[in-house]
Amino acid sequence: MTLIKEPDLGTPAKAGPATVSVEVDGLPVTVPEGTSVMRAAALSGIDIPKLCATDSLEAFGSCRLCLVEIDGRRGTPASCTTPVAEGMKVRTQTPKLEKLRQGVMELYISDHPLDCLTCSANGDCELQDMSGAVGLRQVRYGYEGENHLDAPTDSSNPYFDFDASKCIACSRCVRACGEVQGTFALTIEGRGFESKVAAGLGESFMDSECVSCGACVQACPTATLQEKSVVQLGMPSRSVITTCAYCGVGCSFKAELRGDELVRMVPYKDGGANEGHSCVKGRFAFGYASHPDRVMSPMIREKITDEWREVDWETAIGYAATKLREIQQKHGVGSIGGITSSRCTNEEVYVVQKMVRAAFGNNNVDTCARVCHSPTGYGLKQTFGESAGTQDFRSVAQADVIVVIGANPTDGHPVFASRMKRRLREGAKLVVVDPRRIDLVRSPHIEAQHHLQLAPGTNVAVINAMAHVAVTEGLVDQSFVDERCEDFEQWAEFIARPENSPEAIELVSGVPAEDLRAAARLYAEAPNAAIYYGLGVTEHSQGSTMVMGMANLAMATGNIGRDGVGVNPLRGQNNVQGSCDMGSFPHELPGYRHVSDDAVRNVFETMWDREILSEPGLRIPNMFDAAVDGTFRALFVHGEDIAQSDPNINHVRAALEALDLCIVQDLFLNETAKFAHVFLPGTSFLEKDGTFTNAERRINRVRPVMAPKTGKHEWQIVCELAQAMGYPMQYGHTREIMDEIATLTPTFAGVSFEKLDKLGSVQWPCNENAPEGTPTMHVDSFTRGKGRFVATAYVPTEERSTRKYPLILTTGRILSQYNVGAQTRRTGNVAWHPEDLLEIHPHDAEVRGISDGDEVNLASRVGATSLHAVLSDRMPVGVVYTTFHHPVTGANVVTTENSDWATNCPEYKVTAVQVELRTPVPAQGVEAREQIPVPVSVD
Ligand code: SF4
Ligand code: SF4
Ligand code: SF4
Ligand code: FES
Repeated sequence: MTLIKEPDLGTPAKAGPATVSVEVDGLPVTVPEGTSVMRAAALSGIDIPKLCATDSLEAFGSCRLCLVEIDGRRGTPASCTTPVAEGMKVRTQTPKLEKLRQGVMELYISDHPLDCLTCSANGDCELQDMSGAVGLRQVRYGYEGENHLDAPTDSSNPYFDFDASKCIACSRCVRACGEVQGTFALTIEGRGFESKVAAGLGESFMDSECVSCGACVQACPTATLQEKSVVQLGMPSRSVITTCAYCGVGCSFKAELRGDELVRMVPYKDGGANEGHSCVKGRFAFGYASHPDRVMSPMIREKITDEWREVDWETAIGYAATKLREIQQKHGVGSIGGITSSRCTNEEVYVVQKMVRAAFGNNNVDTCARVCHSPTGYGLKQTFGESAGTQDFRSVAQADVIVVIGANPTDGHPVFASRMKRRLREGAKLVVVDPRRIDLVRSPHIEAQHHLQLAPGTNVAVINAMAHVAVTEGLVDQSFVDERCEDFEQWAEFIARPENSPEAIELVSGVPAEDLRAAARLYAEAPNAAIYYGLGVTEHSQGSTMVMGMANLAMATGNIGRDGVGVNPLRGQNNVQGSCDMGSFPHELPGYRHVSDDAVRNVFETMWDREILSEPGLRIPNMFDAAVDGTFRALFVHGEDIAQSDPNINHVRAALEALDLCIVQDLFLNETAKFAHVFLPGTSFLEKDGTFTNAERRINRVRPVMAPKTGKHEWQIVCELAQAMGYPMQYGHTREIMDEIATLTPTFAGVSFEKLDKLGSVQWPCNENAPEGTPTMHVDSFTRGKGRFVATAYVPTEERSTRKYPLILTTGRILSQYNVGAQTRRTGNVAWHPEDLLEIHPHDAEVRGISDGDEVNLASRVGATSLHAVLSDRMPVGVVYTTFHHPVTGANVVTTENSDWATNCPEYKVTAVQVELRTPVPAQGVEAREQIPVPVSVD
């Protein structure tokens, strides 16, 4: 296998129905209007030499290497900046052009180190390639004059170097940072010979606004911006296309290897979700996969106080199966269960839930989506009929108004944020609904029209007020509603009540009524308005209500069923959509079909040759309660650290401690493994073979870059465990698992590895009605037929600030770290965000005598911890904020037992707390912190 080199057509594609026919070196070619001469030439198979042009960036026209001759035109125009015109005749190779290009290259080379043979980019350098392409044979100018050969190297970034001596000032990096990433951290300083690339205000890359996305490194045609891993390991020689293991954007990458060693991850241009872009996690933070903390051998122990004993696979699986059977014989079929993981592939998740249903013989299976996006599944199913977002990511390019609610895309979903920012720079309007002033509210070239800075816990009140404006000000799309929806009248009567007016809601939410009205009008009157939301919507006691509230608003204003609109959850983990699709919930078989449906169960029973219970099984919180009660005795935990990630940690720990058997399958000995009797080492995404489904329902292939380091795939281990329990479950390859999923699940009926290999990816539903998938849902009708309006009365959370706990804590993420940090803390990303900090408003800090950097105690009615404070006016007075990436520092959310009424999703986002300056109590403090429950939000 060789390195996959994607073609570079020089300038971006132009869309549109109108076409233009031209001739390039005598070859006819027809292209969309507005296409550059360079791209038209490339499409006819002719590569024009270039340096400053690349097809991910708008043409710039600075290097003058791409000159051409055009019949009837004077001079030699740059082909990258010249659009085609009907009948144009272009010549790309003439003696005059050859001479001009050689002259340009001579100037570049005369100010460039000639260390090609030892340069890290040798073989992957466009300067080198272009020297060959223009036929450069001599350089008449020496190094005697002024040059840049002694320019310094900036090695401050942990992942890439900037060697200024090799820079040709083509500005591709500067443009990539602006156009693609949207950060605008780089500029070209000075003019003429003095021109040079500068990060920020002449700072190092590390000190600048740079977010380390690597777009500039990818765009650089020379070794100036180069991955440190390439410098250390050498140029890769083969590549495999796979999918990022971090967030729900689901970026496609070329994993580039040298031998069996992964050298770098390069975002794949044809990746449907990312189209060649990435963030710091996906591109650079893969080192955890080879971290020495990884466990490579199965281990067992009788008691959790015993030392672990390494055993072979057969012994570990046999031990687990025997124990599970014994427990069932003694305590009943329902005394055991399993938890699937949103970090694992669809195929792995599918076999785990199948093992529980067919081999365990019950429906006691749940997933970590319980604590993040379960309200999305419930709310969208109730209103639209399908538990998934409505659009593809590309759709945002057609949105005129974008409403972001309870999400922080630049940190949580960075590659989608870049797409969104591009649209905002083009002129789309932005409404941010969030207690915190997230970066999107004001960033380079972007300013939100409205930031509705609501009090935590008042989402439903605010969305109702927006809908109230639409209904009472005549902004309803009546023909859409009449044709496509039901139950509108009673909903409209409810929403028009005075208690839902912006004036009434101002008193509850703190959002000025005029702002609320203006934002609602902006949304309702836009040709295309789209809602994007995150855990700030779902992790509330009214999470499901809020999801339905957004769906109501979108239906009422006709913002469903075409590009540029929709209701879109930004899913957190890479496969949270997939783990839900695959039947991980105790009441649903794959494809969100209820276990009580006889016809559906019958199909599975026939295929699986086992009876399936018609009663839903236990949810995760029910499992914990039953464990403490003594009726639930054994748990299989697949790739999930419930002892860190679930609420009410003391209760979770008590439940785990009460189990007779806890089986953990994971990469690392995590917190949950402290309560385990069997540890089955898992595989990293680099070893997995299967699929992930991202937030836009896109099924992407995860291809193995290397064999499983543990000797077994995770799906094989699960199958062997099921078999050891007496249920024959065997597959020759993961493609067979997907084939079974497709046979049993109508929305996946058309999915196969062959199709994914051919098309790159597909978005479900993919079946005979939509053989190539469904980018936009509910186009002509809703999945459930008519879209259903549901009255969404606002019910304040029971969690209120009190005299003892006067502040409200809410939480979020930061770009460089991920969830509880199990992966990112084992990579170079530790250079950023070494600890979780508490953001507190200067006023709240002052009255408590807290200064920037002070260590503070953070206490709620269920627990306490300590962390360092940072003074920030991003939060309103009375609200504090922290991230949850460092459980070991105890900086996680001290949440309550409150949860969403419909799904039990914990109310992580609203906790009444007190913050006090910490009085150091050295030894005891550490012990005390270990006793403190520190539940964390995950997704
Ligand atoms: S890494 Fe990304 S953010 Fe940083 S300078 Fe390069 S393009 Fe800009
Ligand atoms: S660093 Fe690279 S991309 Fe940027 S101007 Fe220099 S050569 Fe061009
Ligand atoms: S945006 Fe998400 S999927 Fe894409 S590279 Fe970053 S972490 Fe990975
Ligand atoms: S590639 Fe056209 S001017 Fe540089």
